[in-house]
Amino acid sequence: MKKEMLIPRAAIEKRVRELALQISRDYGGRELIVVGVLKGAFIFLADLIRALEIPCRVDFARLASYGSGSISSGQVAVTKDIELSVEDKDVLVVEDIVDTGVTLSFLMEKLREKAPRSLKVCTFLDKKSRRKVPIEADYVGFAIEDGFVVGYGLDFDERARFLPDVYVITE
Ligand code: IMP
Ligand code: MG
Repeated sequence: MKKEMLIPRAAIEKRVRELALQISRDYGGRELIVVGVLKGAFIFLADLIRALEIPCRVDFARLASYGSGSISSGQVAVTKDIELSVEDKDVLVVEDIVDTGVTLSFLMEKLREKAPRSLKVCTFLDKKSRRKVPIEADYVGFAIEDGFVVGYGLDFDERARFLPDVYVITE
């Protein structure tokens, strides 16, 4: 796997602090329920919540999208639902990356059925040009061009999640 560094850890650290500050201000001291999307979002979520200045509770969801390799077929299923009750609560979904938007829009629909007081999305990366479903994240770490990225939680076949910086795969 050949790769080039795209976002160094120092830039990630700085951006995560900025996002956490903005989120803390926007929620004005209210308690958040942060829903991380497994597996990719676990590192971003861990850094983000430790930089928040408001209390939060944490839960996780896991989704499976059926399709071959990196191509989403549009068939999504929840393989692990959240366990906390989010009815009348402020919910913030934390994603690693929004690509076609298929996965996220499916999860948002499922969460909306649970009647949260508010429902927003914070994604570490946003590949806007690849969108198939019209969905926008409320908070975006970095907007990136098309290309497959790894590191900081994002994997290529379960590899490279542990890397502290983000890389784009070149071949
Ligand atoms: P979507 O349904 O096409 O938006 O795909 C979202 C999911 O695909 C993300 O949560 C990632 O798990 C995965 N994904 C999309 N692009 C990348 C990438 O460049 N690197 C690693 N995973 C990716
Ligand atoms: Mg993901």
